Parts: sequence; structure tokens; C-alpha cells
Amino acid sequence: MAVTASSTLDAQKLRADFPIFEEKIHGKPLAYLDSAASAQKPRQVLDTIRTFYETSYANVHRGVYTLSERATAAYEGAREKAAAFVKAPSARELIFTRSATESINLVAYAWGLDNLGPGDVVLVTELEHHSNFVPWQYIAKRTGADFRMLPIDDNGELRLEGLDQLVDGGRVKIVATNYVSNSLGTINPIAKLSAWAHEHGALMVVVAALGAPHHTIDVQELDCDFLAYSSHKLCGPTGVGALWGRAELLEEMAPFNLGGHMIRQVRLENTTWGELPYKFEAGTQPIAEAVGFGAAIDYVSDVGLDAIAEYESELAAYALERLEELGGVTSYGPPPERRAGIVSFNVEGIHPHDVAQVLDAEGVAIRAGHHCCQPLMTRLGVAATNRASFYLYTVPDEIDRLVDGLRRVRKLLG
Ligand SMILES: Cc1ncc(COP(=O)(O)O)c(C=O)c1O
Repeated sequence: MAVTASSTLDAQKLRADFPIFEEKIHGKPLAYLDSAASAQKPRQVLDTIRTFYETSYANVHRGVYTLSERATAAYEGAREKAAAFVKAPSARELIFTRSATESINLVAYAWGLDNLGPGDVVLVTELEHHSNFVPWQYIAKRTGADFRMLPIDDNGELRLEGLDQLVDGGRVKIVATNYVSNSLGTINPIAKLSAWAHEHGALMVVVAALGAPHHTIDVQELDCDFLAYSSHKLCGPTGVGALWGRAELLEEMAPFNLGGHMIRQVRLENTTWGELPYKFEAGTQPIAEAVGFGAAIDYVSDVGLDAIAEYESELAAYALERLEELGGVTSYGPPPERRAGIVSFNVEGIHPHDVAQVLDAEGVAIRAGHHCCQPLMTRLGVAATNRASFYLYTVPDEIDRLVDGLRRVRKLLG
């Protein structure tokens, strides 16, 4: 099967926006197949950050002078974009954090510590990244709640039929899942899980770290209660992420970080909290990063999320087919029509780190390891996998170079 680049996305043309592709790695053109770990940055984002620092930078919200007002307008403009990107009903429900990881910790601490206790169940999935596993496991232990895991089938898809049995004898309070598995690329049935969670009186927490960059997200349609995502996986800078939450939940929650900016009034006896979203934004925020995040949202929105999803699915199908042709490669995860542009695999008899190292010498960047998914690796019966992941700038030629590189790996190490 050839990749018939969907008419609305021209990856070859988009690559010209990304200065990193002018770099040579060991004298060879870069084949960057690690976008699930972090995406590369287009000039449009880099220029926005630079221009912001050069013309509009000051701390936000504090000043009455022109520069501070400019910076505040840019920062709050980015919040509007980040909220609209996931169809949040209101920008005051969109909190800037430092990452998707921090967004999850915010919910786990600020909601979990006050609302979980013995007899309650916190449910995550076997596909979880550690960032949506460890905080819930920790808070469940601290509060005496039960921590349980929804298993996957042999395709790497959630076994929804096991849900009722899993919570037997417990009050499920939280269902927390990723939208897209960073390891297998599985696209999870969020709306179905939300419906089940709400039927059981639980809150639905969705981590869209790898959902938001690749799919149109609508928190109202998904009917979730919290949704975390981050900038660096959708062509924006590191150091900034987003948490969307229902206003009525956020309003009831205690703050997560304490300090400047997030207060209404401070007296020796007591402190009262500021309005949403500021109650959750203590200290100086990642201001220029948020502005860059907004530019990244503009960039991927201009390309089109539906076109990106369609293109990635084609790339995944092509990669799976080429790996299959190679033989001696085990690949993991669902069929391409139910996965994002992520392909995890192992080469028979060769450690993933050795594979990745030989590929690097060919200019091909892939990831090797447990991908922060040790419970999933246990289920797959491996310590690690190789992972190639794609984005809007990935071209089929990079996948061909991966396959050629794997032939070389075999020759050297097989
Ligand atoms: C599925 C998934 N969830 C959460 C995270 C954490 O995101 P962040 O790097 O923004 O903390 C990642 C990052 O790799 C991820 O892939």
C-alpha cells in the first residue's frame, strides 16, 4: 500500500516550515520518528516566541504599564485559543500548567485528596503512561481508596466488557485514561468510557497529551470532566501544558500550588483564593511559552486536525506493512484504522536500545525503552520496545529509511 497523502495535507511542503530538517545527523538527513515523545517546532512558533520577547515581554496581570498590558493580552489570548482548541465552554475553565503531567497531578492532589477514601475505587487502564498511573496510585494509597486497572486485549485495546466486574463491591469515583496510547497508538473510546463513568457516579479524566495533537477534541462531546494536554507534543514549546475542567468542579477544589497571583486576600489569620483560572496559577507563569503554545495551536489548526489524523493512519498502515515485509519483527497494537501514527515493535533477538543506536548512525531517530508504560510492558511480556511515531511533517521516505536501517541492524547484530 502506498501512502496516498490526503489532498489536504502536504507533509513535504510542511517540512519546509521546520528548521530542524536542515540539520544533518552523522552526515545524513534527519528522519525524525519520535514525535510521540515531542514534536518539532515550525518557524511560525519560533518567530512568535522571539517577537513576543523582543516587543511585548513583561510579567502579566501585575502592571498597569503598556508592556505588561501587551503581555497580558498575549497570554490571555493564548488561553482563549487553548480553550477553544478543545471546545471548552469557557476560557476560565482552562488552566495553564507546566505539562500534561502537572495537569494530572493537579487533579489527583486537589480533587483526590479531598474526595477519595476507603471503599472508593480509582480506575486507570493497562495502557497508561506513568503520568496518569503513578499519581493516582499514590493518591489512592494516601486516601485508602482502591486502585484498579482495566486490562487490554491482545490487540492492545481496552476490554470494556470487563468494566462492571472490575468495580464490583466498590464505589468508582475516578476513571482516568489516555486518549491515545503513547506506546501502542490505540485510540481509546472516550465517549463510551465517560458514559460508563457517569452512570456509576464517577468523574472522567482524559489525558489527551497524544490525542490533542492528532485529533479534533471536543470536551463537551466526549462528556469528560477533566482533560489534560500539553504544548510540546503539538509543535509548541516545552514548559507549558493545559488542564480543562468543569467550572463547578474547579470551583470546589482546593488550590494545588500556593503563592502569588492565586489569592484574593491575604491576612495573618487566613487567605482566600482568586477567581478561576487564577486560583490554580500560582507564581510567574510560563508566559512566552503559553504565547508559543497559542501559535502552535494556530499552526496545527491551519493544517487541520482531521487531515492530520487521516494522514497519520495512512503512515501507520504503511509502516506496519513495511515491517511485516521485513519479517522477524513483532509489532504491537491495533489495526491502523484504530490507531494514531505510532508503531511499536521488536526485532527478533536484538535489544531495542541496540536497534535505536544503529539507526541513529543512519540519521533515523526512534525511541527505545518502556515508554513510561511499565505495566503495559509487563502485559506484552517485554522489558522494552522500539517505537516509531509520526506527525504532520513525516514523509513515507523516512519510514523507508527506517526499514533500510533495520536491515542494516540485522546485518550488524543479527
Ligand atoms: C500518553 C501520554 N500521557 C502523558 C504524557 C505526559 O505529558 P507531558 O510530557 O506534557 O508531561 C505523555 C508524554 O509522553 C504521554 O505520551
